[in-house]
Amino acid sequence: MRFILGNGKQLKEKLQDFPSPWVNWLLAAKILVIGVIDENVVGAFGVRGALNMTTAYVREKYRGQGIGRQLFEKAIRVARERGIHFLTGEAFSENNKALHLCLESGSKVVKRVEERKTILLLWPLTSQGDFTYKLLRTIGSIVPGELLARITDWRRARAHAAYQHGRRGKCMHA
Ligand SMILES: CC(C)(COP(=O)(O)OP(=O)(O)OC[C@H]1O[C@@H](n2cnc3c(N)ncnc32)[C@H](O)[C@@H]1OP(=O)(O)O)[C@@H](O)C(=O)NCCC(=O)NCCS
Repeated sequence: MRFILGNGKQLKEKLQDFPSPWVNWLLAAKILVIGVIDENVVGAFGVRGALNMTTAYVREKYRGQGIGRQLFEKAIRVARERGIHFLTGEAFSENNKALHLCLESGSKVVKRVEERKTILLLWPLTSQGDFTYKLLRTIGSIVPGELLARITDWRRARAHAAYQHGRRGKCMHA
């Protein structure tokens, strides 16, 4: 597999038939890693926003072949090279495959949000990232899950707004 690097705006053509909601999050990415096999786009990994929120998507027919793992590894390497201190992610508690890849690639659990059946994750990439993890974990142990769930909703709404903004600016696909 070869990789194409850029951001959501630059690489929007490559994402044109990706399904929603993944496409919205990938189009909003400031770091986007696209996986290509024989000129077919098989998957993508994006990092968006101030919290460096991650999204991974592999096309169904290509799953289970190690593509997700390669995308995770490549994107984390790129983020590290760019001096990013940490990445964050959110996975459904029952998405064992995604959780496996997240934990294997170095993420740590910040908080289990039972109200959403999700797990908030953070990949510390530097010592500042380690500090951020400890801070968020401490905050997570104090803040009720319901409030964190609301923050999650707010973040999702912002990603959607970023996508809509791009569409208005004719930067992204309808
Ligand atoms: C999650 C996703 C990106 C994985 O992509 P993929 O190419 O199928 O993943 P890979 O083949 O590289 O790796 C799967 C890993 O999960 C493991 N795995 C598979 N099924 C599993 C299960 N039920 N429980 C635990 N681990 C499992 C595999 O053994 C493999 O691990 P290994 O490399 O240590 O052997 C893909 O399924 C997807 O796009 N899902 C929909 C979008 C999504 O859920 N994104 C993640 C949240 S942002």
